[in-house]
Amino acid sequence: MSFIRLDKFISERTEYSRSEIKRLVAKKCVTVNGETVKSADVKTDTETAVVRINGREICKEKYRYILLNKPAGYVCSTSEHDGENIMRLIPSELRNKNMFPAGRLDKDSLGAVIITDDGGLAHRITSPKKHISKIYIVKLDRPFQTKYINLFKGNLQLADGQVCLPADVRGCELSEKLAFVRLREGKYHQVKRMFSAVGNHVEVLMRISLGGLILPEKLGFGQCMELLHKDVENLFKEPDFDDFCRDYGGDFSAFLINNQP
Ligand code: URA
Repeated sequence: MSFIRLDKFISERTEYSRSEIKRLVAKKCVTVNGETVKSADVKTDTETAVVRINGREICKEKYRYILLNKPAGYVCSTSEHDGENIMRLIPSELRNKNMFPAGRLDKDSLGAVIITDDGGLAHRITSPKKHISKIYIVKLDRPFQTKYINLFKGNLQLADGQVCLPADVRGCELSEKLAFVRLREGKYHQVKRMFSAVGNHVEVLMRISLGGLILPEKLGFGQCMELLHKDVENLFKEPDFDDFCRDYGGDFSAFLINNQP
């Protein structure tokens, strides 16, 4: 058992400040294990207490992990100054004030983004040293060419002279203008600049997996879901790229073709 004050418990797990929590308690909006609480400083068991605000249960876990299927037109940022930021797509009961996107997608890019308050995990997702691979499906301006496979496998040089780590790319059976790419790093506009370095152009880009965590087909653009800890563990399982393209390629290609942004 591990006890902390109720206001600390709630403020660490939601967007409410301590003074807002006091007000909610005074208005009898907060229950612990079904009983309305009278004071915000009651000791609360972080492992077993069921805390509800206006009937809605507060998640017990200290860290939260949300998987968002990012639509185009949103910036991966927490700052209100950055235009439409993705945080406003997360319902308030799933969000807390310490959350931020673990890794970025461009404003016009689509697909999987993790939003969390776990700084350690965010570092593991974004650090090139940790080798969490990311798989993207792209719609190209011109047909995919098999020569891209070796060009991406070597150390492709971008227009500004930066050299990429070896990456994987495969064409897609459903359309000659669709391709899958797997990267283990995240340079600025990397996928777009890699295709530009081989003489093509990315029209649409969607991230469909982070490590072994695959974007669920049922999650439409702009929708999000809370991840369980076992889903988070999947991040560190590496799928075989050819198996991934064989098993999921058809579904994601159809998804992109049918949901043209
Ligand atoms: N590469 C890009 O070019 N853009 C993204 O959003 C992600 C990877």
